[in-house]
Amino acid sequence: MNWDFDQITQKAEEELRAVASDKDLEAFRIKYLGRKGLLADMYAALATASKEEKPALGKNINILKTRITGLIDGERDQIKKTKKASSIKELDVTLPGVSRSTGHKHLITQTIEEICDIFEKMGFSVQEGPEIESEFYNFDALNIPKDHPSRDGFDTFYVDMKNKTNAGQNMLLRSQTSPAQVRIMQKYKPPMAVLVPGKVFRPDAVDASHSFMFHQIEGLVVDKNIKFSDLKGLLEVFLKRLFSDDIKMRFRPHFFPFTEPSAEVDISWKGGKKDWLEIMGCGMVHPNVFKAAGYKDGEYTGLAFGLGVERIAMCKYGIKDIRTFYENDVRFLRQF
Ligand code: DAH
Repeated sequence: MNWDFDQITQKAEEELRAVASDKDLEAFRIKYLGRKGLLADMYAALATASKEEKPALGKNINILKTRITGLIDGERDQIKKTKKASSIKELDVTLPGVSRSTGHKHLITQTIEEICDIFEKMGFSVQEGPEIESEFYNFDALNIPKDHPSRDGFDTFYVDMKNKTNAGQNMLLRSQTSPAQVRIMQKYKPPMAVLVPGKVFRPDAVDASHSFMFHQIEGLVVDKNIKFSDLKGLLEVFLKRLFSDDIKMRFRPHFFPFTEPSAEVDISWKGGKKDWLEIMGCGMVHPNVFKAAGYKDGEYTGLAFGLGVERIAMCKYGIKDIRTFYENDVRFLRQF
């Protein structure tokens, strides 16, 4: 057979110039390289060619095949590139930017940090205690009598996890941060000034001022010769830093099993008879609490206090309903 290989190559190159899509390219490929394409015919003819013809014909067919394959590959890349370029939209630098809203700390976290910060500046360190606590730390070690109503299931969430690791103790969700007092005294040697923030749990019906979970911060200072006046001075400085220098503070005698004497702390902006607001509890560490921690009788004295974080935040920011802290309504949270 006599083929003009130069002409065929030229024609193929011309045809390829008209190719504009994947579809055109596939038609081109089938025409030349397909099972019934030109190259297939050529190879069939090669099989029957005479001995003399074979070498030159075979060489020409192979050159043509390589050329056509190269043309197809090159064109395929070209089509791909054009497609990519057309999918990039023009960049309009005059369009307004897309601003992403970023989150921020919850008001409870902010309040905890603010309180811790004030005490840290006075030399306190911040520690944590477990939320699942034993009856020993939550009650016994704090000198709370066995028949005290706060131990009742109506006032404490008990957890079903008596086992060997907690010496068969009743376990519960801590109803106060005070159990950390004894844990810390067992772990460290005085002098110490420690703050323990955390969640506490009580089976209270939820209303505007009650929740089954809220936050407390416990404070504990132990050393030789800590006096009641230290307690009063410390809390006055703290409350003035937290609220304002203008507030008045008073101690009202109270009873807590783990402190003696004990007091509730009220603050007021005006100082009128009805203007006092109860803000926290405090007192001098009871000797039985030192005993539970394994301290020698009379070796140390200490002061302790406990405050409710939600209560402080509500008072500071004029929030009327405790539930708003937990509803996660961003319209509320964004204000702080
Ligand atoms: N644990 C008490 C409560 O939950 C608060 C409290 C009062 C803590 C007096 C103290 C304290 O450390 O001394 O009501």
